[in-house]
Amino acid sequence: MGVQFLPQGNLPEMTSKSTQTKPATTGSGDERLSRRASLDSAQDLDELREVIGDCRLCKLCSGRTHLVFGVGNPRAELMFVGEGPGRDEDLKGEPFVGRAGQLLTDIITKGMGLRREDVYIANVVKCRPPENRNPEPDEVASCEPFLKKQIDLIRPKVIVGLGKFAVQTLLQSKVPITRLRGNWHTYLGIKLMPTFHPAYLLRNPADKKLVWEDIKKVMKEMQGENA
Ligand code: URA
Repeated sequence: MGVQFLPQGNLPEMTSKSTQTKPATTGSGDERLSRRASLDSAQDLDELREVIGDCRLCKLCSGRTHLVFGVGNPRAELMFVGEGPGRDEDLKGEPFVGRAGQLLTDIITKGMGLRREDVYIANVVKCRPPENRNPEPDEVASCEPFLKKQIDLIRPKVIVGLGKFAVQTLLQSKVPITRLRGNWHTYLGIKLMPTFHPAYLLRNPADKKLVWEDIKKVMKEMQGENA
């Protein structure tokens, strides 16, 4: 059944967006420094969102509609990490809500039998790169500490890395995603399963069966079995 996770019809409304709608504050240079310093002291995702505020640490801030912080259960055992917001995500302020997002939601709901609000979904960078280009190294360097802190606060049992960019960035590897996927890795001491990005699957539906293999390993791990 898992390989059938094709987008169908409308998706249910998300209910757990409490961590992504904090009001923004404007950041002077001093504030930016103290924001970085405050990262360590953030005790939960709401505090982290406040620390990030109206982030101006990199040039992606100038083109964004919304900073896309992340969505889901702050105590999720399973976390998905993508590359960065696209147009739909930038407009809505929520990760994975476009066509690729619908496919990810199908993987979670129809494939894994979970609700989208049971897991946590975030990206390596929180603001949309122009024309959906890959995030640049300075943008990743500015933003990855936010992702690391999110992971540190959530402490999921398993992270699923979505696509070449996110996985190679997290693992600091140039190994092709075709070789990384399907094998367990570690990020910040947490088990990480790389798999193909849902946007890639929209272009290459035949590879859904490979993602299903990866997802089955994740489900086994979540259930405490050796994958
Ligand atoms: N692709 C990503 O990597 N992240 C999103 O949030 C949407 C599309």
